[in-house]
Amino acid sequence: MNNKIYIAPSILSGDFVNMSKSIQQLEDWGGDYVHCDVMDGVYVKNITFGMPMVAGIRKITQKVLDVHLMITKPENYVVAFAEAGADIITFHPEASSDPLATLKMIKNCGKKCGIVFNPDVDIDKFKYLFSECDVILVMTVFAGLGGQKFIMNCLDRIKKIVSILKDIGKDIPIEVDGGINITTAPLAIDAGATILVAGSAVYKAENPTEIIKKLKGTK
Ligand code: DX5
Ligand code: ZN
Repeated sequence: MNNKIYIAPSILSGDFVNMSKSIQQLEDWGGDYVHCDVMDGVYVKNITFGMPMVAGIRKITQKVLDVHLMITKPENYVVAFAEAGADIITFHPEASSDPLATLKMIKNCGKKCGIVFNPDVDIDKFKYLFSECDVILVMTVFAGLGGQKFIMNCLDRIKKIVSILKDIGKDIPIEVDGGINITTAPLAIDAGATILVAGSAVYKAENPTEIIKKLKGTK
């Protein structure tokens, strides 16, 4: 596969006391997108940050802000995240009372939208949404925590989504999130992912620039 690979370092593994430094590092290391993990303590156990953090990051970077909402009722917040400066907003469809309307709300703000599949969520149940999506995010761990182990059987889920997208003639990227490192990245890419989220593999690396190159397959 010759598709260009994009790396989206997750600031969840960055320094919350000095986030501007973590953003600068991500740029210096060659990251493509800034992946922002928003957790509400309800959809997932953990709590991270909300719109003010995204707005703050928007002021200091031109990079694509990729906002992954792990929150219940995302429809109540997507406009606020768009106004805060997100470029891509993804949410978990089972957390929304009307995922189709939520996708449209994001689009109406002029932003890219997509849905996220946790490993136990039925893809067929939500495939009717694919025609409205600009990206599909496939979790390869259960959303909620950084530093977890890649779940191998999620590779088949990536392949399944590739095949559904092909059937409906929709050419959009598949993003993958959770446990991505230099061993698992090639597997996700082979399955069809082109945007790789990586938290601990990048921020905890001895040489993050080299790791990003390796994740992209350019080294
Ligand atoms: C997990 C988050 C991920 C997380 C990935 O719920 O959605 O984006 O930061 O972290 P790693 O790459 O360490 O698995
Ligand atoms: Zn994420």
